[in-house]
Formats: sequence, structure tokens, C-alpha cells
Amino acid sequence: MNRSALCGLLFCVALSACGDSEPVGGSPGSVAPNGPPLFGTSRCGDHPWCETQLSPAERTDLLLAAMTLEQKISLMAGDDVAGVVTGNPSTGTVNGIPELDIPPLYMSDGPVGIREGSATSFPSPLALAASFETTLAYQTGKTIGNESRHKGNDLVHGPVVDVMRVPLAGRIFETYGEDPYLAGRMGAAWIQGLQSEGVIANLKHYLPNTQEGQVGTPALAIVGSRVLVNAVIDERTLREIYMLPFEIAVKEGDTGSLMCAYNYINGSPACSSFHVLQEVLRDEWGFDGFVVSDYILATKDTVQSALNGLEIDMPMGVFYAPQLLQLAVLTGQVPESVINTRVGNILRTLFRFGFFDRAAFPSDGLIDQEAHALVARDNVEQGMVLLKNDGLLPLNVATLKSLAIIGSVAETNVSGGGSSTVVSFAPKTPRASITERAGSDVTVTYHSGTTAAAAAAVAAAADVALVFVRDTAAEGQDKTCLSLDCGPLMGVPGPTTQDDLIRAVAAANPRTVVIMQTSGPVRTPWRNEVGALIEAWYAGQEAGTAMARVLFGDTEPGGRLPLSFMDAEGDTPVAGDASRYPGIDQRTVYSEGVFTGYRWHDENAVAPAYPFGHGLSYTRFSYSNLRISDREISATVRNIGERTGSEVAQLYIGMPDPSPNVLQPPRWLKGFQRVQLTPGSSATVRFPLDARTLAYWNVETNGWETAAGCYEISVGASSRDLPLQGQLCR
Ligand code: BGC
Repeated sequence: MNRSALCGLLFCVALSACGDSEPVGGSPGSVAPNGPPLFGTSRCGDHPWCETQLSPAERTDLLLAAMTLEQKISLMAGDDVAGVVTGNPSTGTVNGIPELDIPPLYMSDGPVGIREGSATSFPSPLALAASFETTLAYQTGKTIGNESRHKGNDLVHGPVVDVMRVPLAGRIFETYGEDPYLAGRMGAAWIQGLQSEGVIANLKHYLPNTQEGQVGTPALAIVGSRVLVNAVIDERTLREIYMLPFEIAVKEGDTGSLMCAYNYINGSPACSSFHVLQEVLRDEWGFDGFVVSDYILATKDTVQSALNGLEIDMPMGVFYAPQLLQLAVLTGQVPESVINTRVGNILRTLFRFGFFDRAAFPSDGLIDQEAHALVARDNVEQGMVLLKNDGLLPLNVATLKSLAIIGSVAETNVSGGGSSTVVSFAPKTPRASITERAGSDVTVTYHSGTTAAAAAAVAAAADVALVFVRDTAAEGQDKTCLSLDCGPLMGVPGPTTQDDLIRAVAAANPRTVVIMQTSGPVRTPWRNEVGALIEAWYAGQEAGTAMARVLFGDTEPGGRLPLSFMDAEGDTPVAGDASRYPGIDQRTVYSEGVFTGYRWHDENAVAPAYPFGHGLSYTRFSYSNLRISDREISATVRNIGERTGSEVAQLYIGMPDPSPNVLQPPRWLKGFQRVQLTPGSSATVRFPLDARTLAYWNVETNGWETAAGCYEISVGASSRDLPLQGQLCR
């Protein structure tokens, strides 16, 4: 079956051949001593470096000693451009060296599932972030890792831990939102899960892919384009906001590889920045894996990239074409010892992951589709954020007689565009699933929403109206405004905007529930006119099943916002200042510093429409017993409602300004814990403090320091709902 798929490489449209595979169980693997699981028998051959008692470093030295310069250089670039478009045999391949029994290395996108034929399509990673649940992140990474290896891939290009800075950015849906601590914790857990399947994670995009740019074709922006823009960021902001999630993911997740970004950072291409790749990543954080370039336009030169830290140029060698690297070595610009370091980093990682000591991962179709669908469904449910509820939800099937489903979005499975797009195994549309769950005693009507008046008439005749809306967002170009209809590929049937549609339906029936699937934050100017509002992100293949379960109360919408929803278009740290965004002369200055996301709203006393961390439950919770010590902050959360439900308790800390030049925002997220509670029961939530919890980056001493003074401690249900307050003075 041929299906169209939006794929990576500067957002090309491709036809990929794909077939459905049987839902059978995954094959078990043996476990290497202190290493990842091994599957099948060794393909290493009978070489000295195949001795598994030796360490990965010792084996690497032996193999390097047996390689010619030409052979080493051949491992430093991809060898298949077509796969980027077709996903076949994978979205990236580095050919092996048969004479040395070095097998080919297969790579695949990405953070939403595997982009190769049909696969389980997960909701956007923002939904996972909204769960504030690291065990779910682990399970999701593991499931995608399992699917990756059953599709023959050794490495997955994910997760994305770039911090959302520009709410218009085309790839927000692939990220974990606007908080670096949350992004780091989710990314680390996802990596651990993925790598537990013997698959290498490729943490991306380092550093910082925070915008795609404006003006141009849908796929390729010109102004502030991600492939041209120079991100000018001071060191404190870099460390505390944009590097932090990568640092956590490298240290806690122990990622095997990392993808360097398209942009320039403080004047150097991200793929050849000595500071970013060598001084910070390797020397400070201890990363010992390999660095892969983003596809085609990220590698911007040969010599500096080789000297400063790029191992593999993808999807093929442009600046790492064999002739160019050989010339660089012959002319002494790149010493052969540097080539040994680069190739050594690749090989050592492959030895670490048991790559040589197992069979190739075959594309065997042994994917437990049902089990994987359940993990995807859990993602949607735990990530759906109930922004508002006037008591309309959950729907009561015992009293409900009729239900109107409005909006053609209910007939589709929504995803973002670009390299993360997955062709679903088994899409279940909201309309079909909700109709089924409502049962035969409920009359379900439908209107596509093409004309607001006709849709409103259908809504008026029903007990409850459900309105399904979306925005569009894609890799390659940012949105032009924060309304639902401002995506680069937006095409709303008829003259009616989605805002108009919602208003018309809500006017006809106050018992209106709006279900949004958006890339990130959108404006919701009609929010006071509707009875309930849910953010479901781009929900993927399990959108229907999950929405039906949540709407009818079979489960809760478990999410809390991983980013702020602004009220007005200008309520963002970058609005109205072209030097911040989209940049002037391809230069974007991060002059807002650490004041991004909720930190900007709080500092400037701007009320968000819905604040970071916000999300309602079908029950209610109380907070009490704040306890503060140097090592831990704890509190009691009690379910004071009538239903079992879950709460995400959040710790925020306001830090003292260490000096008049180093200003701190009113609060930073420093901990979170999700608890599930039956009615009347309570739990103690604990937030351990470590050496970094209270630290800031001191640009004078070039290190993390803790300022003397009093720290404002708050615990509660969102960045703007903090019933427990206290101080920690040092
Ligand atoms: C994207 C990467 C992706 C790669 C391969 C690039 O355009 O920026 O995130 O992994 O394509 O598809």
C-alpha cells in the first residue's frame, strides 16, 4: 500500500511503501554482562576485538589499529540519501566494512514513533511532558526502542529536548515544552527506556533548535531560518535554560549519541562549536558517545567539525566526503589522531551497546501492536489537559440522550509535519470511538463545521456539543500567529475560522466541550463562552480511544501544561522585538535571558490564559504540611473529591538575586511528583534537593554556585496555584 508521508530533510513530501504486520510478541534477548540486551548471535567474526571480556575501549583500540585511514573515514558519514525520504531501509545508513566484519548502522526517526512503513504513532512528545510522569517516559522510550529494533534500526533520532522559546515555533510539538528541568527529566527517562532495548538514542538538536523561521515556502523559511540563524546567547542563559535538559539527558540518560543542530551558536556552527561540543559536552558532562549532524545543512565545514567534535555527517558525506577528509589529513589540518578520536567514539559506543555481539536487528514485523497501542493510548490520556470544566465532564452516559460531534478534525488523526511524522498502524478517529462509546441509547449527530450556522443548528439540537479543532505546525517553517488558523499549511474548509465555529456552537449550546489538538500554545479568546476545554496535543493513532475514555470518565485527563497559554498575541518574551525573533540579518539575540515561558509571565506580571503546570482533574485535592529542610521539601496531598484521580504536585523555588547583574525570576520549577489517590486518601510528595537545585551559573567564576540568602519555596498544583509557601535561608 502506498501512503503519503511528510518526512524530514527540510520537510519533503514522500511516498513510502508500507505494509501492516502481524500483532505478535517481541523476541526476548539475552543480557550482556553490565550491558544492554543482546539479541541473537555475534556478527563480530574472529578478530582480536571480538573478545567480549575486553572493555569497549580496549576493543576499540584493537579495531582502530587494524583499520586504514580510508576505512576510518568511511565511517564518518552516512551512505544513503534516498532513505531520508522513503524511510527505507531506514532514515539513515552508515555502511559497514565487510572486510573487518563491521556491520552497517541503521538509524530512524524519531520522537513520535518510527518513521519507516507503518508504526505505532504516539501523541506529540508534549503530551508525554504533560503527564509529568517519568515512568511513562521510560515506557514510551522502551516501546519505541522495541519497535525500532523490530524494524531493523540500531539508533533512533530522539528525544528532542530543545526548550520552547518561541511559541510560534514549528516544532514545539516534538519538544517537552518550556521548562528545562521538566524537559531534561522526561528526556533522560525516555532515553533509558529506549536504550534498555539495545537501541541507541540520538538526543537532539544540540543546540538550540528553537525556531524554524518565517517567510518562504511551507518547508523552507528564509527569515531566521533554522539552517542559517545565529543564536546569540549569554553563557548563563545557555547553561540554565538551553543546555540544562541536554546536561540532564546526557548525565542521567547516558545517551549513546547526540545530534548537533542546523543553526549557529554564538557565531560557530553548532556542529563545529568547540565550546558546545568539546568543552561542555565532553569535558564537563563526560559524554563519550558520538555526535551525528542534523541532515544535510548542519555540517558547515570539514576541518572545524572534525577538530571540534562531529563524528558523523548525515545523511551522506558532504563536508565529510572521503576526499575532503583525506585532504584535510594529508595537509595536516586534521591530524590522524583526531580521526582516531572521532572513529573511536563511534566504535566504543557500538561496542558498549553490543552492536557487534548480536545479530543484526531484522525487519521482522514482530511488533506487539496491541501492547504498543496501549502505551500510546496511555500517553494520550495522561497528556490530555483539562483546561476548564464547568461540571460538564465527565459525560454521564446514564442521563445523556444526544451528542453532537462538530468539526472534520473528529474524522482525522492529527500529527505534526516533518521528520517526526509516523504512518499509523491503526488510526482510530475520535468520531468513530466516541460514537461507539456513547452506545445505542445516545443519538450522535455530526457536522463537519464548514459553515458555522449549520454546525450551530446541529449543536443546538443535542444535549452536549463536542467541537474538535486543531492548528497545523510543521518542521521547516514557524506559524505566523497564535490563533488556531495560523499554521503554514492551514486550510479551513469554507470561510469559517475555527474560532468562529467555536463561538457559534457555544452560543447555540452552552453545554459545549472544545477538544483542541495543537502543536503548542494557541490563543483561546472564546474560553469563557464554552463549558469545558481540553488540550489533547497532536494525539496520534489512539486519539479516538483515549478521547472517548476521558470524555465518558472511564479515566481522567491526566495532563498538566508543560508550557504557558498566553492570552494576547503579544504576551510572549519574543513578541514585538525582531532582534529576538525571527532575528535581524539571520541573527537572533536571546536578550530575554532566563526569562522565558512562565518565568517571563511571572517576572512581568502578565496573566496567562492558562499557566504552566495547570490542569484540572475530575476530583479535587488539598495541600498541607509543607516541610522544608536542606535536603528535602515535602508536603501532603489529599484527594478531597468523590472520584479517584491523580495530581501533579509541583515544587517551585524563587531564588535570591546573587548580584544586581544576575536577576532571578520569581520562580523556577525544581521538582514534580504525580500521585494517584482514592477519595479521602492522602500521600506525602517528596522533592529531594541536590547540589544543583539552588545553584545558578556564575559567569565570573565559570561555574555553578549557590547564592546566600532566602529561597522562596512554593508547592502546589501549577505555577499560579501555590497554596503552600515557606522559606529556606542559607
Ligand atoms: C530534522 C531531524 C531529523 C532528520 C532526519 C531533519 O530535518 O531536523 O530532527 O532527525 O531530518 O529525518
